[in-house]
Formats: sequence, C-alpha cells, structure tokens
Amino acid sequence: MWQCPICTSALHRPDDPVSVNNSWRCKQSHSFDVAKQGYVNLLPVQFKQSLDPGDDKNMVKARELFLNAHHYSPLIETIAKDLKGRLTLDNSYCMFDAGCGEGYYLRQLNRILAEFNITYCGNDISKNAVIRAAKQAHSLDSKHQYIVASSFQLPVSAQSVDVLLQVFAPIPKTEAFRILKNGGLWYQVVPNSQHLQEFKTILYTDNQAHSPQPEEGLPLVHEYDVSFTLVLSPDEKAQLMAMTPYAHSATEHKRNACINSDIPLTIAFKIYVYQHLEHH
Ligand SMILES: C[S@@+](CC[C@H](N)C(=O)[O-])C[C@H]1O[C@@H](n2cnc3c(N)ncnc32)[C@H](O)[C@@H]1O
Ligand SMILES: [Zn+2]
Repeated sequence: MWQCPICTSALHRPDDPVSVNNSWRCKQSHSFDVAKQGYVNLLPVQFKQSLDPGDDKNMVKARELFLNAHHYSPLIETIAKDLKGRLTLDNSYCMFDAGCGEGYYLRQLNRILAEFNITYCGNDISKNAVIRAAKQAHSLDSKHQYIVASSFQLPVSAQSVDVLLQVFAPIPKTEAFRILKNGGLWYQVVPNSQHLQEFKTILYTDNQAHSPQPEEGLPLVHEYDVSFTLVLSPDEKAQLMAMTPYAHSATEHKRNACINSDIPLTIAFKIYVYQHLEHH
C-alpha cells in the first residue's frame, strides 16, 4: 500500500505499531518514525515548499469544531449510501482520503460502514491536520493510517486503493488514477455554484457563480447534487468562514456582516463518482 517517498520501494509497517522499533521502513533502510499521536510523516524535508505547509492550526481547529457538529451529514450520508450499493461484505477494501484534513469524513464512514472490512487511510500536507486526524481516530492500529504527504506526489503504491475520497482538496488526476485499482472508485466533492451564496453576496461586488464540471475524459459513473440550508449561530458562522478561503480575503467589516446576518445559508455540493477502468 505505502511506498518510500525517497526510493519508491515498498514501505513496511512494524507488526506491532507500539513496539520499540516503531517506524515504517523500506528495503533500503529509509525509515520513518510513527509519531506519538499515531501518524507517520512521509514528507521529506526536501519536498516541502514552506516550513508549515497546508492548513494552519486555527483553520484545522475551526473545521474540526464545525464538522464534528455534523452540519455536513447529508454529504457523508450520500457517499455512504452510494458505497453501500457498490461494496460487498466478503471483500476487504482500502479507502484513501486525499487531503483528509482532520479526518471527519473517514471517521463518519467508518461509523456508517461498520459492517464492511475497510482500512481507512488519509494524507494531508498539513501536519496540524494529520495530528488531529490520528488523535481523533483513537487508534494506533492498522485500521486507521494517517500520513503527512502531498497529494501531488503520494507515497502510495500504484493500484492499491479501492475507494478514493477527494473532498475540497487538490489531487491531480494522474495521481488519482495511478493509486486506484482497476475498478476502483473516486468520489470527488466540490462546491456547487450556489454554495454559501449568502456570504458571497456580502463579500464580493462581482459575484459570478460558476458551475463546476466533471474532470474531462474520465469515466463518470454517477453525479449527485447535495443541497440544503443551515441556520447557524454566529460562532458557527465564524468557524465556517475560518475554514474557507474567505477568511483571508475578506475585510473585518464584511466578515462581521456575514457572521451577524440571520439569513439561512445555502450549502450546495456536487459529488462526481468516477471509476478507474483499465482501458482508460
Ligand atoms: C478545504 S480543506 C479540506 C479538508 C478535508 N478534506 C475536509 O473536507 O474537511 C483542504 C485541505 O487540503 C490540504 N492540502 C492543501 N494542499 C495539499 C497538498 N498539496 N497535498 C495534500 N493536502 C493538501 C490542506 O492542508 C487542507 O487540509
Ligand atoms: Zn526507500
């Protein structure tokens, strides 16, 4: 499943993750320690483009608080229902969440799909996020595996993933299709044009909504529209702002106008489901 980020040969987990030799290693003896929180950093320092890449602590905290209140449960329910129709009980699966953040989606799928035999793996370039994901999975076992890595260069072996999740995070389609097994599924979640339109009206004078499109040339097996409205407290609206790009671009005045407005918020996502079929 994992490959060495330095030489690309297979990486082996220790049989007992809490043994003294608590590291993942390849046959060339490149070795990566399991941190005390249970994740592994597979982003060699020479691959980093900044000291602390990805979401910072405050963004991770805001997303954790917001998601753990289950405001986005219709999204996860839609993915889980689709998966239930495609997975079988007598197989074992590897699910991989690219840019997993603090791991909310994998935790929820683990809860809803408990009867299936699934290993839950995720990467994020933000160490802050991966620490929270590993901690909240309460696990040092092999069922939940979290790594720090870039989705542009995943330390994941070719054709090792059955289900790829991509929720508001980047992954090149070449990497996605490299790691997917033949027949593997890719759930790509993107904001739809109406998503948070009430915020956008306040924040932008030129508010041109553009509709997302599925990736060109990929075999799309299903497409879902998930939309609903949310009535949030000012604190929750502040969390939502802090976990989106608006946090950086908005002025204090406009941010406060969003946080204090009473209008219900539109939440709108597209889920594209692609399937990796060998001839593509
Ligand atoms: C909007 S957040 C979404 C997080 C999570 N999927 C969720 O929906 O809660 C985007 C995430 O992508 C991560 N990210 C950004 N660039 C990345 C990269 N090159 N490789 C992996 N993760 C990246 C960020 O650190 C952040 O956690
Ligand atoms: Zn190696």
